[in-house]
Amino acid sequence: MGYAVMLLLVFLCHEVSSISILPHKHQTISLLKFKNTFTIDPSASGDCHPKTSSWNTSRDCCSWDGVICDDITGHVIELDLRCSGLVGTIDSNSSLFQLSHLQRLDLSFNNFSNSHISPEFGKFSNLKNLDLSHSYFSGQIPYEISHLSNLQSLCLSDNSIRLGPQNFEMLLQNLTQLRELDLTSINISSTIPLNFSSHLTTLSLFETGLYGLIPESIFHLPNLETLDLSSNYELSGYFPKTKWNSSASLVELHLSSVNFSCNLPESLGYHLTSVRYSSSLQP
Ligand SMILES: *[C@@H]1O[C@H](CO)[C@@H](O)[C@H](O)[C@H]1NC(C)=O
Ligand SMILES: *[C@@H]1O[C@H](CO)[C@@H](O)[C@H](O)[C@H]1NC(C)=O
Ligand SMILES: *[C@@H]1O[C@H](CO)[C@@H](O)[C@H](O)[C@H]1NC(C)=O
Ligand SMILES: *[C@@H]1O[C@H](CO)[C@@H](O)[C@H](O)[C@H]1NC(C)=O
Ligand SMILES: *[C@@H]1O[C@H](CO)[C@@H](O)[C@H](O)[C@H]1NC(C)=O
Ligand SMILES: *[C@@H]1O[C@H](CO)[C@@H](O)[C@H](O)[C@H]1NC(C)=O
Ligand SMILES: *[C@@H]1O[C@H](CO)[C@@H](O)[C@H](O)[C@H]1NC(C)=O
Ligand SMILES: *[C@@H]1O[C@H](CO)[C@@H](O)[C@H](O)[C@H]1NC(C)=O
Repeated sequence: MGYAVMLLLVFLCHEVSSISILPHKHQTISLLKFKNTFTIDPSASGDCHPKTSSWNTSRDCCSWDGVICDDITGHVIELDLRCSGLVGTIDSNSSLFQLSHLQRLDLSFNNFSNSHISPEFGKFSNLKNLDLSHSYFSGQIPYEISHLSNLQSLCLSDNSIRLGPQNFEMLLQNLTQLRELDLTSINISSTIPLNFSSHLTTLSLFETGLYGLIPESIFHLPNLETLDLSSNYELSGYFPKTKWNSSASLVELHLSSVNFSCNLPESLGYHLTSVRYSSSLQP
């Protein structure tokens, strides 16, 4: 962004601050700075509606498209810029990270031009929902993501990223509140750890380079409804032989292109309505 434009922006912010943006001055400025680090291309990641184009200081930032504030404190607690045509990078110095009260952040379906996922994302300590899927991130998932111990959903799917210096188990260790985990098409390249949150309802690990034996305990997760382990060619497993039905809440199970023993047990999941698997890898 040109220096002149930046100056103009700073000037504008000062001009208007005395009128409408006073109560949320800092977060208004952070949001506008964030907006201005991107160009808008509605077709950057699908056919999208550019929410930030309507952001301006004629209205309180809490009423901007995609922004939700806490009724009492006035802090921005939700930012939903899914499919907003954003094109540009998110660096560690991005003003996004000044919105420290965020509980929900959805930046999916944009084009962050191969930015790395900044370790700063790990500082949103109130975050419950984080969706960075399908947004052209690259590099490693930073270790700091595992600090987000209040996360209920984490979606990082469809980016060319890989698990960072920590292993899969370490990533999960603090995430004891997770309901939904979607790591589709990420390079994990490890075995499946044993300790998923017992709250988990949806687990998508499609095409993640997982290998080894599927731990039987995964079928016994008390709240799991959807499990997708397909397209992990070096993963093998079998249905649990006992006591599956008593606890199973599983509704959808995807095991295509997994080396899976196809003998459906009598104790097949009680609620199971959809099972997809192929026997092509059977010995
Ligand atoms: C994403 O943005 C980069 C430039 O920042 C561009 O080179 C690339 O083609 C874009 N990708 C898509 C799918 O639009
Ligand atoms: C500010 O945004 C509103 C919609 O939120 C729009 O109607 C208005 O024209 C915009 N004003 C300027 C100066 O862009
Ligand atoms: C953030 O840092 C990069 C260099 O790492 C710099 O190019 C960019 O202008 C900085 N952005 C802001 C908003 O300060
Ligand atoms: C768990 O979170 C705490 C801070 O919330 C952090 O210090 C610790 O490193 C995290 N553990 C893992 C395995 O990420
Ligand atoms: C994973 O295991 C560690 C150590 O056994 C435990 O502290 C942690 O709470 C477990 N995490 C989950 C998500 O169950
Ligand atoms: C996944 O990452 C590992 C390094 O962590 C690398 O050796 C492997 O080739 C990658 N796999 C794919 C399919 O990119
Ligand atoms: C499939 O799994 C079985 C064990 O369940 C193993 O003996 C066999 O080698 C595996 N096949 C492939 C192609 O990995
Ligand atoms: C579970 O399956 C066994 C037989 O496989 C059956 O006897 C039992 O009643 C089933 N329990 C439930 C809760 O469906």
